[in-house]
Amino acid sequence: MNYLAEPMQFASWSTDAASEIIDRHQSERGPLLEILNDLQRTFGFIHEDAISLVAEELNISQAEVYGVVTFYKDLRTEPPGAFVVKICKAESCQSVGADQLAEAAQEIFQTKIGSTSQDRSVTLEEVFCLGNCALSPAMMLNERLLGRMDIERITELSKEIKDVSL
Ligand code: FES
Repeated sequence: MNYLAEPMQFASWSTDAASEIIDRHQSERGPLLEILNDLQRTFGFIHEDAISLVAEELNISQAEVYGVVTFYKDLRTEPPGAFVVKICKAESCQSVGADQLAEAAQEIFQTKIGSTSQDRSVTLEEVFCLGNCALSPAMMLNERLLGRMDIERITELSKEIKDVSL
């Protein structure tokens, strides 16, 4: 199978662009999480300067912003690798071998869950239900949902990623 893998593309950190994002959400109710998600979609991670900027603009403490950033596993404080692979570890996927798959994926991509490989080709993450339970075990490659994954398919995927990243 060809996954037509394309590396993730993110903007370089810019305070002006971040301020625009924050402004866009200012009028929403409880905008903090949406702002952080939007910052991550734009820059790939939550830059350390974003913490003080968001705190200042929302008139809340930096500790509050930092608390949310560290609470939500989806939010990163480091730039991701060229590809982000998320492995579902929720019940339906667990019942068909997600744990073993996650173990194998760490070997195949040569990085731990929650980390980026040394060559920065892959960031490996775990998630809890991708809404693709009918096709468990499920994974996500960047923004693309994948189902019925197994070790063989992950190996193919890793070869494709290596080809694109080299
Ligand atoms: S439990 Fe894995 S997609 Fe729902």
